[in-house]
Amino acid sequence: MGNGIAQVFATNDFKVILCDISAAALEKALQVIAGSLDRLIKKGSLQEDDKTRILSNIATHTDLSKAVALADLIVEAATENLEIKLSLFKTIDQYAPKEAILATNTSSISITRIAGVTSRPDKVIGMHFMNPVPVMALIEVIRGYNTSDGVCQAIMELSKTIGKIPLEVNDYPGFVANRILMPMINEAIHTLHEGVAGVEEIDGIMKLGMAHPMGPLALADFIGLDVCLSILRVLHDGFGQPKYAPSPLLVNMVTAGKLGRKSGEGFYVYALDSKELVVSPTFR
Ligand code: 3HC
Repeated sequence: MGNGIAQVFATNDFKVILCDISAAALEKALQVIAGSLDRLIKKGSLQEDDKTRILSNIATHTDLSKAVALADLIVEAATENLEIKLSLFKTIDQYAPKEAILATNTSSISITRIAGVTSRPDKVIGMHFMNPVPVMALIEVIRGYNTSDGVCQAIMELSKTIGKIPLEVNDYPGFVANRILMPMINEAIHTLHEGVAGVEEIDGIMKLGMAHPMGPLALADFIGLDVCLSILRVLHDGFGQPKYAPSPLLVNMVTAGKLGRKSGEGFYVYALDSKELVVSPTFR
């Protein structure tokens, strides 16, 4: 997600510092961004010198305290782990300029909770981008309990400046996008687990019948089954309702390391450089 967010800001001529603890991850991120820009050049929607310009807007850093020192906006897109995010926000709050806005791309962790470890809860906000970031129009803008009107307004405007469509929501578990998406994905997994239909049938029905660009099982693989599980757990804990309990099949798959695209197998198997969806042998 971080790559995509950096790409979108850099494309719109913002100076971006991409920060990660791993230099190798930063190197890979630049390659992914270059690949995504090449795709747009091939399609004719970008010129070669745009690519040079966009890439020249992106610098990298492995030291968070230095990376944020002059920033106006920080968009955190670390792994979905509460302790990691709280620790990052404490550091960012300490080193970022006092007026800087601190945004998080969290898919489900409470903005209010994250804001609580900073000295500026009025300047903490959710900017929830959708995957793939360069393609998807939406930014779900989440107001924490203490986010100020001015900060919310600034982020709504900024989101439009980078070519996205922002929609504002309040800070409750799963916000809106994942509160509605994850129960659908979970239900698709229950449907598979109960033997009502196979992977291709479930995905085919939702694609052909509801005009979804991807079936829910392919989408779960795309998002990452571990991410889906962690969001369902946030919904389940946050609302205390059994309807959000994750499917035992989803739990088993994550435990077995079948995380979807990123691990090479989920409901489908993924061969390098192939766009074809092949159902995992487990579900054939
Ligand atoms: N960079 C730049 N462009 C890209 C790209 C990338 N990384 N990935 C895809 N594209 C562009 C392609 O160039 C193409 O553009 P065109 O239509 O103008 O020619 C377009 O996107 C479609 O790409 P493809 O033809 O390669 O592939 P598909 O037609 O199969 O579309 C998809 C791929 C855009 C991923 C589509 O299947 C889709 O929209 N899927 C649903 C995605 C979705 O639901 N995302 C939200 C997930 S939930 C989330 O992110 C929240 C989190 O908290 C869980």
